[in-house]
Amino acid sequence: MIKKIESQGYYIEIGNHAESSLQQLLDVDFAQAKKVIIVDENTHDNCLEALLTHYEALKEAEVILLPPGEENKVMEICFQVWEALTEYKIGRRDLIINLGGGVITDLGGFIASIYKRGVQFINMPTSLLAMVDASSGGKTGIDLGPFKNQLGLFAYPICTIIDPGFLQTLPDNEKVWGKAEMLKHGLIADKAHWDTLKEKDVHDITLEDIATSASIKNNIVLKDPKEENERKKLNFGHTIAHALEAYFLDKSPLPHGYAVALGLLVESKISIDLGLLSKEEYYEIEHFILQQYDKIDNISTIGETLLGFMQNDKKREGQEYNFTLLNTIGQSSINHTVTEEVILEALKVIDTQF
Ligand SMILES: NC(=O)c1ccc[n+]([C@@H]2O[C@H](COP(=O)([O-])OP(=O)(O)OC[C@H]3O[C@@H](n4cnc5c(N)ncnc54)[C@H](O)[C@@H]3O)[C@@H](O)[C@H]2O)c1
Repeated sequence: MIKKIESQGYYIEIGNHAESSLQQLLDVDFAQAKKVIIVDENTHDNCLEALLTHYEALKEAEVILLPPGEENKVMEICFQVWEALTEYKIGRRDLIINLGGGVITDLGGFIASIYKRGVQFINMPTSLLAMVDASSGGKTGIDLGPFKNQLGLFAYPICTIIDPGFLQTLPDNEKVWGKAEMLKHGLIADKAHWDTLKEKDVHDITLEDIATSASIKNNIVLKDPKEENERKKLNFGHTIAHALEAYFLDKSPLPHGYAVALGLLVESKISIDLGLLSKEEYYEIEHFILQQYDKIDNISTIGETLLGFMQNDKKREGQEYNFTLLNTIGQSSINHTVTEEVILEALKVIDTQF
């Protein structure tokens, strides 16, 4: 059974890809189109075969193989792919399938939307993080130096096809990191989802849990596609997360989901320090996050550097540090101005020294 969620001019399907609309799209809507599949080395080895064997129409597809990892979500890689698309004579009526984690869906969506002013694309997320978050909502983009998603545009796929079967080969640590975005969805908008996830090992995450997360995100995006107000709720945890990722990018890159998990904790601490969140709920969040995600050594000593990265964060408005914070588990509010002192103090909760 496929679950279908309608979104901003496109749709999300969740279930076995063989039962999804992919067959119809390939055989009817894109029957005459050339097909390109963008993969990274891991999704090439673990996920591509399932598509190539199932869909006759993909047997002749051009496969563009990229190195994995956030450090490759950059312009240099885009140029290489655009050159390959040109060499394959891909035109505006052709089709790109992004088969991978959030790096591939962010990068592939960006590449497709810029090339010849836009080639249609389908997202097929293969990591938990991309299934519940990155592959929908229309944000595509790449990093610029240490700054996350600094270049990008809102562009929507034809559809996002989420097949949880791809998770079978996803390493366990990637599942734990991906779960952080699900926890975020629970914290900002759905206490029952948080309560469910708290009790669950990553191996027990179901299609329904994935669908709940994807729906929470989708409902928020539909109210405010361009992030003028409501959508900022999805940034909970991300101001800190993006600063941490920026700092570690040229050292030992932090997985996005791990950075988000720590960001959720720090920003929950800010929420209690500003008198929004209760102590009981804060300790529940702290206990749960620190059970699953390790603190970092000496994080407090780089507080000023992290503030520097936050000053160039694209979520920043004016001269102030603007945060989405928690009022209670399951309810968030946007546009809180937070001082440097409060941020620096809250960072201590993820420092092994404290
Ligand atoms: N556009 C958005 O709204 C949005 C939202 C959240 C995150 N993101 C972005 O998503 C990215 C993080 O996504 P991610 O965590 O999926 O990272 P990722 O794409 O790097 O995938 C994580 C790792 O898992 C591997 N992998 C993926 N699927 C696999 C499978 N089925 N089997 C084996 N290995 C597999 C990948 O090759 C990679 O090594 C970040 O760049 C982040 O900024 C975007």
